[in-house]
Amino acid sequence: MPSAFPRRPARLVVLVSGTGTNLQALLDASRNPAYGAQVVAVGADRDGIEALARAERAGVPTFVHRVKDHPDRDSWDEALAASVAAAEPDLVVLAGFMKLVGERFLDAFGGRCVNTHPALSPAFPGMRGPADALAYGVKVTGATLFVVDAGVDTGPIVAQTVVPVEDDDTIETLHERIKGAERQMLVESVGRMAREGFTITDRKVRFGK
Ligand code: GAR
Repeated sequence: MPSAFPRRPARLVVLVSGTGTNLQALLDASRNPAYGAQVVAVGADRDGIEALARAERAGVPTFVHRVKDHPDRDSWDEALAASVAAAEPDLVVLAGFMKLVGERFLDAFGGRCVNTHPALSPAFPGMRGPADALAYGVKVTGATLFVVDAGVDTGPIVAQTVVPVEDDDTIETLHERIKGAERQMLVESVGRMAREGFTITDRKVRFGK
């Protein structure tokens, strides 16, 4: 099947802040040429995280931009955008990246940058999706893949996956259940975006040209 992007495999840059299990799922999927996408670089906002070790083990180049190493948030955002641009991505994937990207980044990659969030948007945006869902007492929650815009987890929705909340869940057990479903959703959706392309009309994201 031809790629929806000019290059096959499509080039993915993945941004991470933590354990990197979502990154690992993409690295594993892209070993199959039929997947249609390949992780060409991994960027982070901090050192010493397992996600960077995963990239290094896979032989994928990495870069790190810590906010505190830049005079202000705008120059951090600009440096991040420059490193991502240098890897010439077709699609940027935020996979557990715990920073909001800014205007410079969105000028460069708006419309071709997706983020995965561990809740069913529009419920429970922000950094504490599983904890907020548990505290609210919902019976189902899940994960949402969306196209990044200037808001906090507000962009057009690419895919959602639902998981039950169990009576004896802790934040950790709930988040682990979400992450299992989330990885599957991420791999499936990013692969389809790469192979089929996608359109966004009135917030509706559809696969295909
Ligand atoms: C994932 O559940 C992701 O949705 C979440 O962090 C986890 C990263 O796991 N992201 C956010 O909460 C962003 N607001 P991983 O490092 O193992 O891929």
